[in-house]
Amino acid sequence: MTHTPKPVRKAVFPVAGLGTRFLPATKAVPKEMLTVVDKPVIQYVVDEAREAGIEHFVFVTGRNKGVIEDHFDLQVELEHTLRERGKKDALDVLAAALPQPGQTSFTRQQAPLGLGHAVWCARDIVGDEPFALLLPDMIMQDERGCMSRMMEVYRETGGNIISTEEVAWEETHKYGVVEKGDAVAGGFKITGMVEKPPQGSAPSNLFINGRYILQPEIFSILENQASGAGGEIQLTDAMLTLAQSQDFHGFTFTGRTFDCGSKEGFIKANLAYAMWDRNMAASLGPELRQLLDAIKPAGS
Ligand code: UTP
Repeated sequence: MTHTPKPVRKAVFPVAGLGTRFLPATKAVPKEMLTVVDKPVIQYVVDEAREAGIEHFVFVTGRNKGVIEDHFDLQVELEHTLRERGKKDALDVLAAALPQPGQTSFTRQQAPLGLGHAVWCARDIVGDEPFALLLPDMIMQDERGCMSRMMEVYRETGGNIISTEEVAWEETHKYGVVEKGDAVAGGFKITGMVEKPPQGSAPSNLFINGRYILQPEIFSILENQASGAGGEIQLTDAMLTLAQSQDFHGFTFTGRTFDCGSKEGFIKANLAYAMWDRNMAASLGPELRQLLDAIKPAGS
């Protein structure tokens, strides 16, 4: 790469999915607002984007998702009451989560036609520049955020970047998986991608874990993208088309990704983040041990 790639200033958060796996919890509350310890899931993802230098946060929402917009706005009455009561710590927590005025945009995906369609809905707000895409279901636990590390690769390689993570080979059929080519600048060339490969046929055990840096040409491809697996407009199909004319590089995340779109992943995330907090770990540890001890071995 001889020239500096265009900076990535905007991030897209597709939050228009139905969250059926969490019903009835998600009947009136969007799944992105379910809390992991003390923050809604979406807050982790926005914080990760902010840490990576993102300046504008684009939410693709759907019906019943208005509370997400409220979460990233001032809550004037609450803040007034906290100020009157001298609750500085609580005010600081609220201030840390608040984007600057004008840093957020919200657009609607009127019908949940698939992730690819949700991303396409952000085309006018993103415009003709590269953008970060963060799937809010996925939260990543590490000392430094996944997107911030991806940006380092992007600054060297430009083009499109997909984050991946190792998974057990027996699990690869559940995910989008990449084919790994030569090493490049902290990442590797992606030479192929396949969505949910049949058991035993995956080209690697690196699954796509929900973080992307994409070039704006993806939008015109999505515009004409026919529906794919599950009758939905699939992002992977559009990326495969884009890969015919542009480079895709992979980045391997070595922290842990929790899929908060599934009940098990969501509970694992709560446990992992709670145990990351030294104070909580001290009181939760013995409780967890007791619960584990109470599990009777199979057959007893
Ligand atoms: P999921 O495949 O997890 O679907 O979407 P879902 O509808 O949210 O959840 P379930 O399967 O019914 O429980 C992956 C990501 O893509 C977004 C979702 O919000 C989620 O962040 N998405 C999916 C959209 O924004 N629009 C869509 O049409 C589909």
